[in-house]
Amino acid sequence: MRDVTCIEDLRVLARRRIPRAFSDYAEAGSYSEETLRANRGDLEQIKLRQRVMVDVSSRDTATTMLGETVSLPFGLGPVAMTGLQHGNGEILACRAAHAAGIPFTMSTLSICSIEDVAAAVAKPFWFQLYVMKDRGFVRSLVERAAAAKCSALVLTVDLQVLGQRHADIKNGLSVPPSLKIKNLINMATKPGWVLSVLSGKRWTFGNLHGRVKGMEGVKSLAQWVGSQFDETLSWKDVEWVRSIWPGKLIIKGILDIEDAKLAAKTGATALVVSNHGGRQLDGAASSISMLPKIADAVGSEIEVMFDGGIRTGQDVLRALALGARSCLIGRAYIFGLAAGGEAGVAKAIGIIRNELDVSMALTGVRTVQDIGRHILVQ
Ligand SMILES: Cc1cc2nc3c(=O)[nH]c(=O)nc-3n(C[C@H](O)[C@H](O)[C@H](O)COP(=O)(O)O)c2cc1C
Repeated sequence: MRDVTCIEDLRVLARRRIPRAFSDYAEAGSYSEETLRANRGDLEQIKLRQRVMVDVSSRDTATTMLGETVSLPFGLGPVAMTGLQHGNGEILACRAAHAAGIPFTMSTLSICSIEDVAAAVAKPFWFQLYVMKDRGFVRSLVERAAAAKCSALVLTVDLQVLGQRHADIKNGLSVPPSLKIKNLINMATKPGWVLSVLSGKRWTFGNLHGRVKGMEGVKSLAQWVGSQFDETLSWKDVEWVRSIWPGKLIIKGILDIEDAKLAAKTGATALVVSNHGGRQLDGAASSISMLPKIADAVGSEIEVMFDGGIRTGQDVLRALALGARSCLIGRAYIFGLAAGGEAGVAKAIGIIRNELDVSMALTGVRTVQDIGRHILVQ
């Protein structure tokens, strides 16, 4: 870990440490990966203004998310199957986030259950919800999140159907991991991963297994999503979610101005400008290219958050300059987790924190509140 200086180093290390099916799963985008590439490419196009001779001796990266003070303007976004990147991955990532003073979001499709994580960490975390056909089960998930004292519900609205990732099909990705000869041979070369996952609390979807009808015998995620996820989902269902979750609500997966206006009308606390990290509609615009338009349209009514392609602190700075109040990171911390467990996630957060701090100084800003479009080359 000492030689790791950037998120790309963590990605390379992660590839060496875990079976190919799981590193491919984390890295891939849907179909031709146009949107996945656009997320990064468009961020890199945004040039920061180098400013000099500004006293930046006292800098502060703290801000608020949903009204709570956080030490950094980003949190850990929901990532399915985190516990198969490293045993107990959800617990480890949550601990690293809390130690850094930022939020952690648990996916509906996590390996550890809501209760596993709640019992293992000291502070509340956020819970991400997928709305499935079985509304009774969805209600029970929300009740479990409330019982675990989750401090926000992140309702993901961009996955009524699953975008295809070619690698997952070719690798036979399944939960629990498939024990085909090809996969076993690959796993045998990753003893650290085998040990960590075998000693983890669970190997299957902790929130769902044994509780959701129709899961028995379903191994492929795509097959299960196809049968369980509700294609009829509409804004009416957001009203229903609000009626069963009176707490803070974040609507994640907004990429269009019209949808942003509708999301703002629901009374949700925040929305996340997101294309699911380029994993859903391939050919969609990059999230950074839509961010300023959405922030201009609804930023005064609802807290605008951003994700998609963040690999550096400079990327966080760019998103804040274009109107995001805060960001979520996905793959950046997952690479850290796969590379080195809790220490790896802490490393990923630390890398982005230091890059952000240095880049704030070199653009002449001292606080997150000072960041604006004026720090970008127009
Ligand atoms: C492996 C993987 C699994 C994901 N699983 C979920 C999920 O279960 N729920 C969700 O709302 N978003 C999920 N996402 C999307 C992320 O929350 C986030 O939008 C995306 O990763 C941001 O892009 P980035 O990875 O480039 O930072 C997943 C992303 C990845 C890479």
